[in-house]
Amino acid sequence: MRIGVPAEIKNNEHRVGLTPESVYELCSAGLSVNIQSQAGSAIGFTDQDYQQSGATILSSASDVYESSDLIVKVKEPLPEEFKFLSPDKTLFTYLHLAGNKSQAVELMNTGVTGIAYETVTSSDGSLPLLAPMSKIAGQISVVVGQYFLLKPNGGIGTILGLVENIERRVVTVIGAGVAGTEAIKKAIANDAHLKILDLSQKRLDELKEQFGTNNIEYILSDSSSISSALEASDLVIGSVYVLGKEAPKVITEEMIKKMKPGSVLVDISIDQGGCIESSKPTTHDAPVFNKHGVVHYCVTNMPGAVPLTATLALNNATLPYVKALATQGVDEALKNDSHLFNGLNIKNGEVVNPAVKEALES
Ligand SMILES: NC(=O)c1ccc[n+]([C@@H]2O[C@H](COP(=O)([O-])OP(=O)(O)OC[C@H]3O[C@@H](n4cnc5c(N)ncnc54)[C@H](O)[C@@H]3O)[C@@H](O)[C@H]2O)c1
Repeated sequence: MRIGVPAEIKNNEHRVGLTPESVYELCSAGLSVNIQSQAGSAIGFTDQDYQQSGATILSSASDVYESSDLIVKVKEPLPEEFKFLSPDKTLFTYLHLAGNKSQAVELMNTGVTGIAYETVTSSDGSLPLLAPMSKIAGQISVVVGQYFLLKPNGGIGTILGLVENIERRVVTVIGAGVAGTEAIKKAIANDAHLKILDLSQKRLDELKEQFGTNNIEYILSDSSSISSALEASDLVIGSVYVLGKEAPKVITEEMIKKMKPGSVLVDISIDQGGCIESSKPTTHDAPVFNKHGVVHYCVTNMPGAVPLTATLALNNATLPYVKALATQGVDEALKNDSHLFNGLNIKNGEVVNPAVKEALES
């Protein structure tokens, strides 16, 4: 099977589907890999590195798609990439279809087989291909949150760290899974007062065990607890996820109107449609907008800000699956691994993942 890696074209997206090291491993297993010229150059992976690993360098995206059966990417295809997709190809990447119905329809119309990283599961219930990027997005959320709290950047004008005997700043994290936990760690390191909200009492108990109760509140999430946490917060991070589904809108505009002017919302769940009613997707070029006096950060590819770290972490997670798909063949690999099968979102022009299908039909 021929594997193809086109360059990413989303705004400020410098991650790449395969590293030279991954290519070496795949080529050593007898597979052929086509890489678009310069696909990894922004993070120091030169065409020469890929060639030395055994890849063939092709000059354009259309050449890569044409000469490959399994396309390994990072982000969902953009409209200008749909023309390269066809029923004889398999696309292995983040798709986030539940939050983007028109994207789902366009992809179905191409007939491509689409396997989405974010719905691949593992036996312990975790999401092995979403987790590495969620970790990074969670860490970035506090960094950008702090940046936009600064007055020259539109924020209320405060720093999260302790200064003299001034009261701690309040950071609220809603959805304490992988991304939320990383945000919590960073916020603790910044000496913030934390309000952690989740739907799962079990998850809250686990976190209490891990982080203790010093300057941390653990709160069962519902609209009234979210609303009162928001009123007290300087920085709010939304990182809820329900497998395959569009993100629930846990923060309403009415709640935001009661927040302090200049406070900051980071909607990590924006790639699944966003968990904040007033969110709309933004880019690294123009990451924020102000609504109701509150700064909204809604970048859909946050790990794109750290493309080298993110590419290495993503490849560690995806490589075994790429290898399985390419060596066993797509149908056989999906049959042999029910967790990889959960990643199958689109086949023969139809959405086949039940959760994604339900989300798109609602
Ligand atoms: N913007 C980006 O660049 C970027 C990057 C990586 C991940 N993400 C997104 O971050 C989100 C979180 O991913 P994750 O891996 O941390 O997911 P996860 O499954 O590990 O955690 C989600 C948490 O949300 C909780 N939750 C669900 N519904 C809730 C509700 N109504 N109220 C409170 N809590 C609720 C769950 O109990 C769980 O603890 C996903 O949507 C993912 O796609 C975005």
